[in-house]
Amino acid sequence: NNQMDQESLNAYEFLTMFYHHSLVHANGAEEAKAYLTGRGLTEETMKKFSVGFAPYKSDVTTTLLEKKSFHLHHLAHTGVLSETEDGKVLDRFRGRVVFPIRNHLGKTVGFGGRTIRDEEPKYLNSPESKLFQKGRLLYNFDQARSEMKKLNQAILFEGYMDVITADQYGITHGVASLGTALTDHQAQLLKRYVDGVIVCYDGDNAGIEAAFKAAERLKKAGLESRIASIPDGDDPDGYLKANGKEAFERKILNQSATYMSFVLTYLKRQYDPAIEASRMQYIDEAIRYIAALTKPIEREHYARELADEYNLSIDTIMGEVESKRQHIM
Ligand code: UTP
Ligand code: MN
Ligand code: MN
Ligand code: MN
Ligand code: MN
Repeated sequence: NNQMDQESLNAYEFLTMFYHHSLVHANGAEEAKAYLTGRGLTEETMKKFSVGFAPYKSDVTTTLLEKKSFHLHHLAHTGVLSETEDGKVLDRFRGRVVFPIRNHLGKTVGFGGRTIRDEEPKYLNSPESKLFQKGRLLYNFDQARSEMKKLNQAILFEGYMDVITADQYGITHGVASLGTALTDHQAQLLKRYVDGVIVCYDGDNAGIEAAFKAAERLKKAGLESRIASIPDGDDPDGYLKANGKEAFERKILNQSATYMSFVLTYLKRQYDPAIEASRMQYIDEAIRYIAALTKPIEREHYARELADEYNLSIDTIMGEVESKRQHIM
């Protein structure tokens, strides 16, 4: 109910401050702080993102909440705290570095907690609840919004650390879909503020698959997308730290592929060009995508590329494109 939601919001707000304070000031947070410092975060960045630390001893958090008159069982029922089978209420993030997840109003509605000791899972997130619906939020949307609007562009990352590191390097219009595949709802949220999105997911297989799906969703929402690729299985966070902002902008963002050229490259990976039948399947599939392009110039452009690549006549390809187009119209 509403009262319990309000209590959860208050608790999330309180915990955001408490966890951040523990990270910065508390005894016992040295390891967590060293972990974050070791990953290159400055104290200013930790503050901007209210990065925190949940004390190892779970009852530190619960005792404090009780002292502040929160009802532990209410908080367990709404997912702020966790509860064991025998009814003991616990801080599920104990011993983890925590990243508050804020809604568009800037209110914390959940946390992501990262292990600093290689435990599983790497990230533990608040459970889905009325307040916290992962598919309806984008991490850092509240802080990125004004820069996104100014640039008419957003950068879409996978994770917390990508957004935070990019921000520290002065790239402040980044948001993250938090590991899950981008939803239509998230795409529409972006569409309200920008016309263009650069998808900048991890350079591993999972990242490439997710980028393909994200690009399709962005297109469906009417957004212009480009897809960056991070070399050697790295991710934006790692790339920035290894190569700096200038290289990231020049080699990654500026070199990002258009939707169509990304899709064609992506599809091609699934076929074997040495086998004739496989090659023909690829061409057929590529034509299907080209046919769906709304601008005639784009259809011709990609048809020409395909024709050149496979030594076919442009007229043949365009003929196929236009006939497939009849079917989808
Ligand atoms: P990644 O596995 O790419 O992690 O997941 P990362 O962001 O690079 O993490 P670091 O750099 O090792 O700290 C991307 C995002 O997917 C979600 C998180 O939001 C993470 O930031 N995720 C990942 C989870 O929710 N749970 C997990 O166990 C792993
Ligand atoms: Mn209970
Ligand atoms: Mn990843
Ligand atoms: Mn990653
Ligand atoms: Mn990473």
